[in-house]
Amino acid sequence: MFILAPLLTIALGLASVSSRPTNNCRCTFGSACWPSDSDFQALASKISQPLLHPIPPATPCYDSAAGNCTQVQTEWHDGVWRSDQPGAAQNTNWETYTFPNGTIEACYLGTSLGFPCQQGNVPIIGIDARTLADVQEAVNFAGNHNLRLVIKNTGHDYLGRSSGRGSFLLWTHHMKNITFLDSFSPTGATDSVTYNNVFTLGAGVQWFEAYEAAKERNVLIVGGFSLRGSVGAAGGWLAGGGHSALAPNYGLGVDNVLEMEIVTADGNLVVANSYQNQDLFWALRGGGGGTWGVVTSVTYKTHPPTPFSGAFLTVDSTNPNSTQTLLEEIIRLTSSLVDQGYGGYVSGSTDHLQLILLSPNVTVNQTQATFSPLFESAASQPGLSSQNETDAFPDLWTIYNLIWNNTDGNVGNPVEISSWLLPKDVVETGDPKNLAEELLKTASFEYNFVTGGQVSRVDSESTGLNPVWRNSLVYTAVVSTWQEGANETQIDAVRQRFIQDMKIIEGLAPGSGAYLNEASRYEFDWKKSFFGSHYDQLLNIKQKYDPNSLFLVYEGIGSDGWDADLICRV
Ligand SMILES: Cc1cc2nc3c(=O)[nH]c(=O)nc-3n(C[C@H](O)[C@H](O)[C@H](O)COP(=O)(O)OP(=O)(O)OC[C@H]3O[C@@H](n4cnc5c(N)ncnc54)[C@H](O)[C@@H]3O)c2cc1C
Ligand SMILES: *[C@@H]1O[C@H](CO)[C@@H](O)[C@H](O)[C@H]1NC(C)=O
Ligand SMILES: *[C@@H]1O[C@H](CO)[C@@H](O)[C@H](O)[C@H]1NC(C)=O
Ligand SMILES: *[C@@H]1O[C@H](CO)[C@@H](O)[C@H](O)[C@H]1NC(C)=O
Ligand SMILES: *[C@@H]1O[C@H](CO)[C@@H](O)[C@H](O)[C@H]1NC(C)=O
Ligand SMILES: *[C@@H]1O[C@H](CO)[C@@H](O)[C@H](O)[C@H]1NC(C)=O
Ligand SMILES: *[C@@H]1O[C@H](CO)[C@@H](O)[C@H](O)[C@H]1NC(C)=O
Ligand SMILES: *[C@@H]1O[C@H](CO)[C@@H](O)[C@H](O)[C@H]1NC(C)=O
Ligand SMILES: *[C@@H]1O[C@H](CO)[C@@H](O)[C@H](O)[C@H]1NC(C)=O
Ligand SMILES: *[C@@H]1O[C@H](CO)[C@@H](O)[C@H](O)[C@H]1NC(C)=O
Repeated sequence: MFILAPLLTIALGLASVSSRPTNNCRCTFGSACWPSDSDFQALASKISQPLLHPIPPATPCYDSAAGNCTQVQTEWHDGVWRSDQPGAAQNTNWETYTFPNGTIEACYLGTSLGFPCQQGNVPIIGIDARTLADVQEAVNFAGNHNLRLVIKNTGHDYLGRSSGRGSFLLWTHHMKNITFLDSFSPTGATDSVTYNNVFTLGAGVQWFEAYEAAKERNVLIVGGFSLRGSVGAAGGWLAGGGHSALAPNYGLGVDNVLEMEIVTADGNLVVANSYQNQDLFWALRGGGGGTWGVVTSVTYKTHPPTPFSGAFLTVDSTNPNSTQTLLEEIIRLTSSLVDQGYGGYVSGSTDHLQLILLSPNVTVNQTQATFSPLFESAASQPGLSSQNETDAFPDLWTIYNLIWNNTDGNVGNPVEISSWLLPKDVVETGDPKNLAEELLKTASFEYNFVTGGQVSRVDSESTGLNPVWRNSLVYTAVVSTWQEGANETQIDAVRQRFIQDMKIIEGLAPGSGAYLNEASRYEFDWKKSFFGSHYDQLLNIKQKYDPNSLFLVYEGIGSDGWDADLICRV
C-alpha cells in the first residue's frame, strides 16, 4: 500500500509537457503550464513580502549555506520551531513523497542514512501572507494559473493537508493580529446582539499566543492543548471542530466562534456568522480546513476566568490484568466525571497508563475524594507502580505552563493517527470489561475526555460538524510511528498493525464517527466517518462557494472527484 496513488507524472526540475488537458489537471511545478518567472515576478510586485522558497527543515545538515545544522538537531522535536518554517510539517512523513514504485523522496535529519536531501512533498514556492490583499492576490494567482493551492498554517495536519508536492503555498503563519473587544456585535446583527470580551484572532495566531493574550485580559478562551501550544487557533483546528480539555464544560472550538472572515475562490472577502452567509458559517464549523477558502480571522467568545482542580495518575505495569482492571475503573467513572466538569486525557497500553483530568467546578478536596478509590486501586494491585497527585490551580494559564509548555516526543517523527468517538450509551451501558480489553489490544490508545457535557447540549444541526459528536462521551485514538529512513515495505508492516488498531476502536461503536483532524489516509469510509449525515449539505455549500474546487484537501469535501495527489480529476 502506498501513500499516494500512481497518477503523478511530473518530475521535479524537469519541464515535461503534461499530456492531459489542462482543465482536468492542475498545473504543478515542472509542468509546461507552471507560471513563468515573469508571472511570479508580477505576483511578487503586488504582495507585501518576498516570495517564499520553502525547504525541508533538515536541509542545513546537507548544505551549510541553508542554515545551522546544530540548531536543526537541537530544535527538531519542537513544535513551535517547526511551525515557524514554511517547509516543515510537525510530523516528518508529510515532508516526504512516496512514488508509486515505493521510492520515498525525503530530506532526513539522519545524514548517515545514505539518502540525498530532496524536496519531497514540500511546495517549491509560495507566499508569506501578511495582509488581506496578500491573500486575495494569492488566491487569484492560483485560480488564474490553475495551480494546486496548499494553505498552510502550522503544519500540524495529520492527513498531510498542509503540504503537497509541486503545489503553490499560501502560508498564513505571520497573520498574527490579536484584537480584544469589550463589546462586539456580529456584522449584520441588530445592535441588541452584543457579546462582551471577545477576541478576533488573525489566521496565523497559535494557541500559546492566544492563551498569553487571554491571560493579559484575564479571560478564559477555549483552545487546543498541544505541547508548546503550537496548534493554530484559527485554522484547521477550528474548521475540524477543535477539541480541548475544556470542551466538556465550555463546548468545542466551533461552539465558541462568533464570526469568521474568509477569502473565497472568487477572491472576495466574506464575513460569515449567524446573521449573514449562514451557510458558509455552518460549513466552516466542522466541514474541515482548506476546503471553503482562506480564513483570514476568527472572532471567539471568552469566559470568565476560573480556578481549576486537577487529578494526575501515572502507572507502570508488569501485569496486564491489573492494567485492565484499572482501565475498567476509569471507564466506570467516566460518566460521573464528565458530569462534574472534568476534561482531559487518558492514554496507555498494557504496560502504562496516564491520566490528566481537570475541572473548574470542584474543589481540590472533592477531587481528592473522587479519585482516591482509583488511586488506591493503582497503589494496591499486583504489578503496578504508580504516582498520583491532586492539585488546585489558580487559572488555566498556570496549568498550561506547568503541563503543556514542553517539547513533544512525537513532533519531528513520522506519525499516523486515527480516532473514534464513543457515544454516551456505549460508555454508560456497555461492558467496561470488554471496552478495556479491546482498547488494550491496540499498540497504544487514547481515551480522552474532550467531548460530552456542554458539547452534547449544542443542537447538532447548528453547525456543520458531524452530528455524532453531540451524543459522544469519549474520544478514542490510536497512533503509530516508525523510524526515519524506513523503506516502504517496513512502513507498510507498521501500517498493517495500525489498521488493525483502527478496526479495534471502530468496532467499539460501529456507525459512530472519527475526528477528521486526527485521522488517517486509511479511513474505511471517510465521508461517513468525518461528516456523517451532514455530508450532502456540505457538498452543496462547497459547490456554491468553490465550483472549480480551487480548495482541495485529502479526504475533504469535494476531493473524491480527484486523484490521490489532488492534481487531476478522475
Ligand atoms: C502535536 C499535535 C497536537 C494536537 N492537539 C490537538 C488538540 O488539542 N485538539 C484538537 O482538536 N486537535 C489537535 N491536533 C490536531 C489539529 O487540530 C490538526 O492537526 C489541525 O489540522 C491543525 O490545524 P492548523 O491550522 O494548526 O494546521 P495546518 O496543518 O497548517 O492546517 C490544517 C488544515 O487546515 C487548513 N487551514 C489552515 N489554516 C487555514 C486558513 N486560514 N484557511 C483555510 N484553511 C486553513 C490547511 O489547509 C489544512 O488543510 C493536534 C495535532 C498535533 C500534531
Ligand atoms: C548553531 O546553533 C547552535 C545551537 O543553537 C549554536 O550554539 C551555534 O552557535 C550556532 N552556530 C552558528 C555558526 O551560528
Ligand atoms: C521510482 O520512481 C521514481 C520516479 O519515477 C524514480 O525516480 C525512481 O528511480 C524509481 N525507483 C525505482 C527503484 O525504480
Ligand atoms: C492588523 O492590525 C493592524 C493594526 O490594527 C491593522 O492595521 C492591520 O490591517 C491588521 N492586519 C490584518 C491582516 O488584519
Ligand atoms: C491474567 O488473567 C488471566 C485470566 O484470568 C490469567 O489466566 C492470567 O494468569 C493472569 N495473569 C497474571 C499475570 O496475573
Ligand atoms: C461548571 O462551572 C461553570 C462555570 O461556573 C458553569 O458554567 C458550568 O455549567 C459548570 N459545569 C457543570 C458540568 O456543572
Ligand atoms: C481539604 O482537605 C484538607 C486535608 O484533608 C483539610 O485540611 C482542609 O480543611 C480541607 N479544606 C476544605 C475547604 O474542606
Ligand atoms: C496516591 O494515592 C494513594 C491512595 O489515595 C496514597 O496512599 C498515596 O500516598 C498517593 N501518592 C502517591 C505518590 O502514590
Ligand atoms: C513557555 O516557556 C517559555 C520558555 O521556556 C516561555 O518563554 C513561555 O512564556 C512559556 N509559554 C507559556 C504558554 O507558558
Ligand atoms: C526494506 O528494508 C529491509 C530491511 O533492511 C530489507 O530487507 C528490504 O529488502 C527492503 N525493501 C525494499 C523494497 O527496499
